[in-house]
Amino acid sequence: MTQSAYVLLGLTAMVAALVAVLTFAVLKFVAGARQARRHLRADGGPEGDFVSSALEEAIARLKQQEAAMSARAVASERLSSQIVESLTAGLLVVGGTGRVEILNPAAHRLLRVGAAEPGADYRDLLKAAPALREVMEECLATRQPIVRRSVQMDTPDGPVHFGVSVSPLGDARDPAAICLFSDLTNVIELEEQLRLKETLARLGELTAGLAHEFRNGLATIHGYSRLLAPEGLPAAYRPYVLAIRQETETLGQVVTNFLNFARPEKPLLAPVALEPLIRRATDELRHELPAAATIDISGEFGRILGDEVLLRQMFGNLLRNAVEACETAGIRPQVVIEGRVDQGRRTCRITVSDNGPGIPEGDRARVFQPFFTTRSRGTGLGLSVVQKIVVMHNGRVAIGASPAGGACVDVSFPAA
Ligand SMILES: Nc1ncnc2c1ncn2[C@@H]1O[C@H](COP(=O)(O)OP(=O)(O)OP(=O)(O)O)[C@@H](O)[C@H]1O
Ligand SMILES: [Mg+2]
Repeated sequence: MTQSAYVLLGLTAMVAALVAVLTFAVLKFVAGARQARRHLRADGGPEGDFVSSALEEAIARLKQQEAAMSARAVASERLSSQIVESLTAGLLVVGGTGRVEILNPAAHRLLRVGAAEPGADYRDLLKAAPALREVMEECLATRQPIVRRSVQMDTPDGPVHFGVSVSPLGDARDPAAICLFSDLTNVIELEEQLRLKETLARLGELTAGLAHEFRNGLATIHGYSRLLAPEGLPAAYRPYVLAIRQETETLGQVVTNFLNFARPEKPLLAPVALEPLIRRATDELRHELPAAATIDISGEFGRILGDEVLLRQMFGNLLRNAVEACETAGIRPQVVIEGRVDQGRRTCRITVSDNGPGIPEGDRARVFQPFFTTRSRGTGLGLSVVQKIVVMHNGRVAIGASPAGGACVDVSFPAA
């Protein structure tokens, strides 16, 4: 063998040894990797399952809680809107820049307005109730609560009184307010009636005794004057005796009227239909009235619990006043009696209007006072008697202007 053959043989042996070493290393690596994968699979499986099931459970619990919370939110929203809807007091919530946020059905009814447009301004909504608007404005400006303030709103059916409480909401940058109000008209009218009843009773007590004594004295003077027969007197004295008789008779009539007014009267209450009663009062008066005078009766009158005789006297006084006022002003009397039954307030309302000169605004509060008169032969008791009879029937009476420019007396009674 040559030298180069030995070298070739040595090299071949070395390559074979290297290939063997490499093959062993690869086999070892593959076996190690397989074992590691087997290990990972054997150790990591149960841990991964535990983590994922815990996560699923937590998510399910969160979903349950979310559903319960939204059900609770819906229920509490429903409850709060039911409370707002069923409140008998008016509720008005005003947000920033004066937006109406809540206006409940009672508020619609009390304010006599329709549903507020979304985003409507409370100042527009309360146009017909300026006093209520002022209370809201005050609370929004001062951020101070206002408790049980009494305000008045004028309506075609007469004044309505509200008791109002307003509380500020939000902060000074975005001032809002919540306003609760209720109708106190009946309470105020009852208080007014009680006050009037007390005043009339006190007035009656104080003066009835005095008037009684006065009438006795007058009767004596009148009696003596009747003993003086004018025929037996010198002609110059006769007119004096006749004048004494006439004046004492007139004064006696005034005192009798006043005693009738002052005497505490107990009405005999029974259900009465107002329309036939008014027609009868009108017929009874016809013979006293000028032939040219007209009295129109129209509308719905209803029934009340009342004393027929006193009520006829009351309507008689009103008709007499209307006709007398027209005649004094030289106007042909045209009297209109209108009836209306207010089902909501359960009242029967009657207006007696005329085309006379009317009553100056400054006198309207005084005409019901006893002895207030502008007529030369008037006693000033007619309207006091009217008021007394109305109050006895738990009604109310007010005087204003008629469309014809004359007076309009507005009487209302609780419906039977
Ligand atoms: N329809 C009317 N139009 C204008 N003024 C009226 C009317 N009714 C009442 N008045 C005013 O009210 C006043 C008081 O009326 P009231 O009936 O109480 O007394 P009177 O009519 O003056 O006297 P009398 O006691 O005889 O009735 C009247 O004097 C008159 O000034
Ligand atoms: Mg009169």
